[in-house]
Amino acid sequence: MKRYLYPLALAALLSCTSTPHATAPVATLATPIPTATPVVTAKALVTSAHPEASRIGVEILQKGGNAYDAAVAVQFALAVVLPVAGNIGGGGFLLYRGADGQEGALDFRETAPAAATRDMYLDKQGNVIPDLSTLGHLAAGVPGTVAGMWELHKKLGKLPWKEVVQPAVDLAAKGVVLTEKEAAGLNRTKFITTAVTAGQHMEHSQATPGVRMEAAVNEMGFLPNSYVREGRPWQPGDTIRHRYLASTLSRIRDEGRTGFYAGTTADLLTQEMQRGHGIITKQDLQNYQPKWRTPLHGQYRGYDVLTFPPPSSGGVALLQMLQMLEPYDLGRAGWHSPQATHWITEAQRRVYADRATYLGDPDFGHVPVKQLLEKPYNKQRMATTLPYRATPSSQVTAGPNFPSYESDQTTHYNIVDAQGNAVSCTTTLNGAYGSKVVVAGAGFLLNNEMDDFSSKPGTPNSYGLVGGAANAIAPGKRMLSSMTPAILTKNKKLALVVGTPGGSTIITSVLQAILNTLDYGMNAQQAVAAPRLHHQWLPDLIDVEAGALLPATQDTLRARGYKLNPRAPWGRVEVIRVLPGGRLEGGADPRGDDSSQGY
Ligand code: GLY
Repeated sequence: MKRYLYPLALAALLSCTSTPHATAPVATLATPIPTATPVVTAKALVTSAHPEASRIGVEILQKGGNAYDAAVAVQFALAVVLPVAGNIGGGGFLLYRGADGQEGALDFRETAPAAATRDMYLDKQGNVIPDLSTLGHLAAGVPGTVAGMWELHKKLGKLPWKEVVQPAVDLAAKGVVLTEKEAAGLNRTKFITTAVTAGQHMEHSQATPGVRMEAAVNEMGFLPNSYVREGRPWQPGDTIRHRYLASTLSRIRDEGRTGFYAGTTADLLTQEMQRGHGIITKQDLQNYQPKWRTPLHGQYRGYDVLTFPPPSSGGVALLQMLQMLEPYDLGRAGWHSPQATHWITEAQRRVYADRATYLGDPDFGHVPVKQLLEKPYNKQRMATTLPYRATPSSQVTAGPNFPSYESDQTTHYNIVDAQGNAVSCTTTLNGAYGSKVVVAGAGFLLNNEMDDFSSKPGTPNSYGLVGGAANAIAPGKRMLSSMTPAILTKNKKLALVVGTPGGSTIITSVLQAILNTLDYGMNAQQAVAAPRLHHQWLPDLIDVEAGALLPATQDTLRARGYKLNPRAPWGRVEVIRVLPGGRLEGGADPRGDDSSQGY
């Protein structure tokens, strides 16, 4: 059932008069909220980007594992079934809240290799060399995922490590049936590997000179190592076996962290680097450490919002936006109405301007988190909004006087176990299939996370994000992220678990999932399925997904000075909502193959 929240005829009246106010006009033009049915379970729920990963998470829970055991199993399963983003060659952020109220933020973000330099992606004239930070061996940061999972399990896991890694080994060895989306993704991607193994090879033009694409055909008729199908394109329903990845995962299962950062896997990774002119060394691998950080807290409409601190920019930005928006009656204004869109966009614009200036790795310089999260500061930022006019981004700069410095393919999963422990984890290779580099003989893809650094101040990265000194490259430093895992509680009880991939859009997609639930009364599936909007200060555009705004609303927004940019769907938001009485409601984004499963 579709519902129009407010009469359409009054819309035009609202576009041109009056002073700013926290209370919305009585009537305005709202976009109908599409219906969608969530999965509801009694005890436990996993939402992830792939049905096999969700299934494995549930199996671990049913065997007596807790949410943290399930997280390890889901993470490794995604490395097999979702090569576009699931990974062992990338990194991520995991936020948890235990049933006893304990909480933690595990940072297993990649780091810049020791040989990285501030200007490594610039030519002699100081210009950014196209593709160097996104494609090929030099684009990869030191992976953090395996160390992160090892650390999580060591601190909070219940089942033996081997038991939680084994399902991914089985998946890789037995093979995975490709979905339509995954087959299409593999077909449009040119993978890179330098392998010269038994079998045939074909030359392949890539950004990295001299790189050859492995074309040795395994016993299935599939390429064992490069995800490339010979002879015909991948079809949905094809089975892809990951022989080398199964071996790598077996080493991780048997040796834990060492199975990745030392021994055979480290040899294979560093040999791949040497052949492809990359800079990750054995010492980089050995030195990699995940970090426990102190989660951030904020409040919104009576809920406590727990989220991730720097080197994520997402937590700070989310809490800033929620502070900026709380005074406004978004529900009364109506979902995606001109007035609500106006307020939300102006908040996003201001927060992304702050992000570009102030956010970076806190281990390498001061990030003014406290100042950015002060209520008077964010109130004052919104005081400069015009009632019925867009503020051009050229007139919005970062807030002054702080002692500053400074995927589109990522994936997210949520887990709530029967005891009420909750995990919200976003993990990434950065771009689709990361750097496209497959580690020969090890069967996994490396990230291209180095592009999340600011290669040159003011020059946009692949998400159009600009940055400055705070996010400049330095050896061992973590690149700034937008990943925004979040957990909301009310009266100290778990209420909502949320997160998404989507590069720069992650923060605004998480914001909208929260607003959809708390301000607009959507269920978990509606909250993730509803079409989205996005503004990130620069470029000065509102990205608009099909169906997000009524034509009359678009006219009203244009009349206020907004530029609208129709854009293909983005994000894969996952939500778990705790219903009154304690049942769990799952929302898995229909834009992907995402799946909510539980019991
Ligand atoms: N690679 C996307 C992010 O971390 O924001």
